[in-house]
Amino acid sequence: MRAFSHLFFSFLVILFAISCSDAFTRNDFPEEFLFGAATSAYQWEGAVDEDGRTPSVWDTFSHSYNRGNGDIACDGYHKYKEDVKLMAEMGLEAFRFSISWTRLIPKGRGHINPKGLLFYKNLIQELRTHGIKPHVTLYHYDLPQSLEDEYGGWINRKIIKDFTAFADVCFREFGDDVKLWTTINEANIFAIASYSEGFAPPGHCSPTSFFNCSTGNSSTEPYLAGHNMLLAHASASKLYKLEYKSKQRGSIGLSIYAFGLTPYSNSKEDEIATQRAKDFLFGWMLKPLVFGDYPDAMKRVWGSRLPVFSEEESEKVKGSSDFVGIIHYTTVYVRNSTSTTPSLIPRRQDFFTDMGAETIFMGNSTFFEWDFIPWGLESVLEYVKQSYNNPPIYILENGTPMKHSSTLQDTPRIEYIQAYIGAVLNAIKNGSDTRGYFVWSMIDVYELLSGYMYSYGMYHVNFSDPSLKRSPKLSASWYTGFLNGTMDVSPQDITQMQSHFSGSSSL
Ligand SMILES: *[C@@H]1O[C@H](CO)[C@@H](O)[C@H](O)[C@H]1NC(C)=O
Ligand SMILES: *[C@@H]1O[C@H](CO)[C@@H](O)[C@H](O)[C@H]1NC(C)=O
Ligand SMILES: *[C@@H]1O[C@H](CO)[C@@H](O)[C@H](O)[C@H]1NC(C)=O
Ligand SMILES: *[C@@H]1O[C@H](CO)[C@@H](O)[C@H](O)[C@H]1NC(C)=O
Ligand SMILES: *[C@@H]1O[C@H](CO)[C@@H](O)[C@H](O)[C@H]1NC(C)=O
Ligand SMILES: *[C@@H]1O[C@H](CO)[C@@H](O)[C@H](O)[C@H]1NC(C)=O
Repeated sequence: MRAFSHLFFSFLVILFAISCSDAFTRNDFPEEFLFGAATSAYQWEGAVDEDGRTPSVWDTFSHSYNRGNGDIACDGYHKYKEDVKLMAEMGLEAFRFSISWTRLIPKGRGHINPKGLLFYKNLIQELRTHGIKPHVTLYHYDLPQSLEDEYGGWINRKIIKDFTAFADVCFREFGDDVKLWTTINEANIFAIASYSEGFAPPGHCSPTSFFNCSTGNSSTEPYLAGHNMLLAHASASKLYKLEYKSKQRGSIGLSIYAFGLTPYSNSKEDEIATQRAKDFLFGWMLKPLVFGDYPDAMKRVWGSRLPVFSEEESEKVKGSSDFVGIIHYTTVYVRNSTSTTPSLIPRRQDFFTDMGAETIFMGNSTFFEWDFIPWGLESVLEYVKQSYNNPPIYILENGTPMKHSSTLQDTPRIEYIQAYIGAVLNAIKNGSDTRGYFVWSMIDVYELLSGYMYSYGMYHVNFSDPSLKRSPKLSASWYTGFLNGTMDVSPQDITQMQSHFSGSSSL
């Protein structure tokens, strides 16, 4: 009898599993997998000229355009306790944030600012008290302006020494409590956006480009900056391994921005162009980190514009990342291009002309709103697994923007996050060593491309309210339900949640 009921029960379980084959919970992921959400210093902290902080290139850059700035942002500098409480209420297991270099070391090197130090110690302590693990990014677009002025920042090798000294202070002061370090945020797109296209700080590009950069050379600087980033990362990583790792037991990685890439047509040209785009966009950073040198395709195209690793540097870069940080939002088509391909933007030699391919949004996607293509994330994770020896991966940003003024009932965001977490689970089941997933963003912040027009937060911030009131969006309670394991995620659940949502649906 007992055996029979046991059998019957198993049968029910199987039936249930089949009928809900799409559904999954937090418990389908390994226990040590980390689910969190992210922000960065300039986008969240505000208080840009308080307590000794000096300007970074991002301050300068945002003040030269009419898209808002991070002077106040979410005022996280003063409201960190309130925000950590919100994180705890949401059930976050981890919080990814970055350290403002000029808050900690106002002149870029040398003197440590005690108030800056105290802020980060307090923030980390507050997270620990609430059982939330910190994931710290050292560099998130905010170079000390003084170093940019002094020697040109990332295009000069002097950055390696200064960055390593900054990292040293962070490891020494925070490393007992921080076990996960990312050296540089989305290094590949940082080099492209900041030194080829000019739309991210410090805004360098060749003249005649879309943005009127006051300085730069789009055919040389991105590669120089990228090279120095790899060397600076490797130098900080080496220091960590020599001086800190044995007692602090953390890990350190570099992060890249990874579009899903898929051929525009089934032509051989587009297929080859897609492979080339993977080499240029991902292999540029990953091949040196894993194998010690740049992809051959890049060496052929860049020729003498590509810096060369000495044997010693190659050895230092190779194996310097304990994990790969992946920042993923959407998937684009790749089409082969030639110098005669018509283009909206006046042509100049830059990263994309070197790549010989252009990226085209799929479906109804635009710069600020995109289609949901979860298999694109799965394909990125598969590609990294298969091409780069299956390194540990943390997905450090994933999310979708909506007009900031739209609604607290952000159902599309829930659908997006749920589908993409499902894609991560698929990749893990097929052998990917992915160990964490962070939603961008924990709270509405100042955005690099869209200022305050579009936001990604699971908490809404009323930026016109002097108290910068925070309110949970529907996505925050969805994440809570997913993380506390009480919710099987499936579309029906979202509908049910929507009808129970107590927040006002319009803003
Ligand atoms: C960029 O640098 C290269 C190599 O030094 C040079 O040939 C080219 O003219 C420069 N381009 C611009 C736009 O300054
Ligand atoms: C760049 O400068 C040109 C000429 O001064 C001007 O027509 C154009 O609108 C400027 N572009 C931007 C993006 O500011
Ligand atoms: C593809 O791009 C390459 C490099 O830009 C070019 O040489 C080639 O002619 C292109 N192929 C086609 C079919 O346009
Ligand atoms: C699963 O992994 C195997 C081995 O790496 C690979 O050949 C296969 O294409 C992967 N499947 C999917 C759906 O990506
Ligand atoms: C935001 O705050 C302003 C000023 O306090 C207030 O007038 C407005 O109604 C608030 N907006 C929302 C959506 O709560
Ligand atoms: C889990 O999260 C859901 C959704 O936010 C909430 O209603 C429920 O009370 C939570 N349960 C526990 C045990 O925390």
